[in-house]
Amino acid sequence: MNETYPFTISPLPYSYYALEPFLDHEVLVFHHQEHYAAYVKGLNATLKPHPKLQKMTMESLIQNAHTLPEPLQTQVIRNAGGVYNHQLYFDSMNSPSFSLPKDSLFKKLTEDFSSFDNFLNKFLEQCMALFGSGYVWLVLNQNTLDITSTPNQDTPLTRQQKPLLCIDLWEHAYYLQYQNRRSDYINNWFSLINWEHVLKLYVSAEKKS
Ligand SMILES: [Fe+2]
Repeated sequence: MNETYPFTISPLPYSYYALEPFLDHEVLVFHHQEHYAAYVKGLNATLKPHPKLQKMTMESLIQNAHTLPEPLQTQVIRNAGGVYNHQLYFDSMNSPSFSLPKDSLFKKLTEDFSSFDNFLNKFLEQCMALFGSGYVWLVLNQNTLDITSTPNQDTPLTRQQKPLLCIDLWEHAYYLQYQNRRSDYINNWFSLINWEHVLKLYVSAEKKS
């Protein structure tokens, strides 16, 4: 995430077929090649006339966007958020076999949510409670793991929280396969979570806190 302008479209860390049957390749192809790619292109087009902003990393752009004048502020929030959120979402998954988090992350999840099942239940609850488009996140908030949601392409980075995991709840993430069965998408997505990646982010976030 130390990349600066011009931002490039990151390839998926797995094949478009790798998440079937829980996420069809058609869904992933559209999501990655059209929706995510459009945010990368939109961000580069937004930054093109602003050399000062071109030196900033993605995280820095998101955290400082509120200091920019409108309409630049809105364009940066939407596009940089769209890139950051999608990259974390794609990195949050790896293969359709349910696994458990390991080591210090499992310990912390069970401490902060009473049990791992309770964490999954609370995460599902937040997902179902989100109205419209947005994301639900696992974040490190100070020294506590927390579940939070953001509308549109907002991110918890602006609340000084450290994102570890996110699910995309825009309809384009699941409607082609699940139509209005949002809870089926979420329950199947639990089996796709790449806990190794979440652990890596958790260890790094913990060191910085
Ligand atoms: Fe998306």
